[in-house]
Amino acid sequence: MISEKLEKAFNVQINKEFYSEYLYLSMQAYFERLNLKGFVNWMSVQVQEERAHAMGMFDYLNQRGGTVNLEAVEKPETDWQSPLDCFEHILRHEQYVTASINELADVADEVKDRAAISFLDWYIKEQVEEEDNVGQVLATLKLIGDDKKALLMLDKDLAARTFVQPVIG
Ligand code: FEO
Repeated sequence: MISEKLEKAFNVQINKEFYSEYLYLSMQAYFERLNLKGFVNWMSVQVQEERAHAMGMFDYLNQRGGTVNLEAVEKPETDWQSPLDCFEHILRHEQYVTASINELADVADEVKDRAAISFLDWYIKEQVEEEDNVGQVLATLKLIGDDKKALLMLDKDLAARTFVQPVIG
């Protein structure tokens, strides 16, 4: 059985993962408006990943005999100044999620829940990948500047990203 304190912390994180799904869906709509279909694809993969992150914790909490308590999901932003502005937002957001998962792991540590500590290891490693993926696109966008041709080439690259259902835990 999971402790009440850790259950609460998991529920907070589940909400943040669903918010991330919502945020990237809003960004997907933004890139639809720009007609950048590769970016749309990248966001759509990100949306699916965030749902998998949320559901991984949802399933885990159930498996541990905890109570899933779904809270309202905050409204995400709907517009950005440019693809660069959007990816700067993503990096800030992922850094925030990383800090939040570290805090959740701290609670698992505090209540000495070894199973949860081991489960959360997957998320800690995943955040390294998340920040790296975003950082790579962001670095390319900075190089591109105002070069529309180069932006279309990046768009073509991002069209190749595919979603692979993660095995969590
Ligand atoms: Fe679920 Fe992008 O972290």
